[in-house]
Amino acid sequence: CFLVASEVEQTYIMIKPDGVQRGLVGEIISRFEKKGFLLKGLKLFQCPKDLAQEHYKDLKERPFFPNLIDYITSGPVVCMAWEGDGVVASARKLIGATNPLQAEPGTIRGDLAVQTGRNVVHGSDSPDNGKREIGLWFKEGELAQWESVQTPWLI
Ligand code: PPS
Repeated sequence: CFLVASEVEQTYIMIKPDGVQRGLVGEIISRFEKKGFLLKGLKLFQCPKDLAQEHYKDLKERPFFPNLIDYITSGPVVCMAWEGDGVVASARKLIGATNPLQAEPGTIRGDLAVQTGRNVVHGSDSPDNGKREIGLWFKEGELAQWESVQTPWLI
């Protein structure tokens, strides 16, 4: 019989072009770092149109789809893979509601954004989508293999 090692949960977090251009990269990364998740992948990247369309393919019938693609490809984004138990749901809480006006103070969008179409950050909505999106945005070998020395304090 085989024992399948349980996979550690990962999520894809992306600082959108407005977050980069407004100088919010450090502020946003530090929220995930301070929470205690493990950073496994990080790059500044100019997203091509076809990748943006693939990433948001479930939304392609929505009226805002063309604007969303123009927005995401309008300047560099910061792509990140974060790891930890429960990281997908926890990251969504740290990010806050899609519409920043409805996002709670203390969340990234609640503190730093105003418009839905300029909501500074993306986070995967399920562990399966976390895997799918990390696979889309990162090439083989771009994710680091490491364990933080802090980890024993945090789990
Ligand atoms: S929905 O309506 O429930 O499917 O939308 P939601 O899951 O909340 O959002 C899906 C992604 O679409 C973005 N979005 C928009 N972008 C631009 N303009 C408008 N009006 C708009 N509405 C939703 C939203 O930010 C989500 O993208 P991510 O990158 O996941 O935040």
